[in-house]
Amino acid sequence: MTNKLKYFVGNWKMFGDIGSIKILHQISIFYAKFKKKVKKNKLIICVPNTLIHSFKKKVQSNIISIGAQNCHDYPSYGAFTGSVSALMLKNIGAEYVILGHSENRSKGESIGLIKKKIQASLNVKLNVIFCIGETLKEKNKKKTFSVLRKQIKGSIEKKFNLNKIIIAYEPIWSIGTGKIPSVYDLNKTFKFIKNEFKKSFRSKTLPTVLYGGSVNDKNISILSSISEIDGFLVGAASRSPKKFIDIIKNYYK
Ligand code: PGA
Repeated sequence: MTNKLKYFVGNWKMFGDIGSIKILHQISIFYAKFKKKVKKNKLIICVPNTLIHSFKKKVQSNIISIGAQNCHDYPSYGAFTGSVSALMLKNIGAEYVILGHSENRSKGESIGLIKKKIQASLNVKLNVIFCIGETLKEKNKKKTFSVLRKQIKGSIEKKFNLNKIIIAYEPIWSIGTGKIPSVYDLNKTFKFIKNEFKKSFRSKTLPTVLYGGSVNDKNISILSSISEIDGFLVGAASRSPKKFIDIIKNYYK
């Protein structure tokens, strides 16, 4: 295990109401104590927009960061019925925003649109968790690297504030299926993503890259053996305090 900061990010998706604050409460009690012993990690919970404000108030201690899960590409306010801008998310207390999630790409979000959203978010100093990943068909046709390259190069530019972009590698066939890639594939893919990013944008440092897709309290022990992985984007399991806490605990076992 390296000495680098490790991220544990919950992606609640379209779940939760005001009563879900008790989940946050349980996680915060655990994490406040845990953080005193195990320092080099960061916990972020990305919730529906309806919960950002109340959750942010609950975690004033700054131990846990709150994030959003998408935004409009327009930089401030505008006539876009039903949409929320990065500026509005920032003003309500979000520190992070997930962009490019495959569940949104599958609804028509293009590489170009995601780029605009990244730019809008960086402009208001939101940290971006940028999701990339291949379908099973692409994997079977050995197109994983070309797909990832296209997603990275198509949505990021050298002039962006690269330090505020975290990449989340989420193979689409892993999300919600209970399947994760082999250790061999993950090692190869993480090295590829990091080198591609460094080379494409001539950045001095390697980016932070998370793994997402069916992470649970069992497979985390396999995933923790891969030092290239800088953290995890956890969907379903992050909505159960016990499962989410066990993922963090078991990572360090
Ligand atoms: P999952 O979702 O952990 O439920 O597979 C991950 C994600 O979609 O970010």
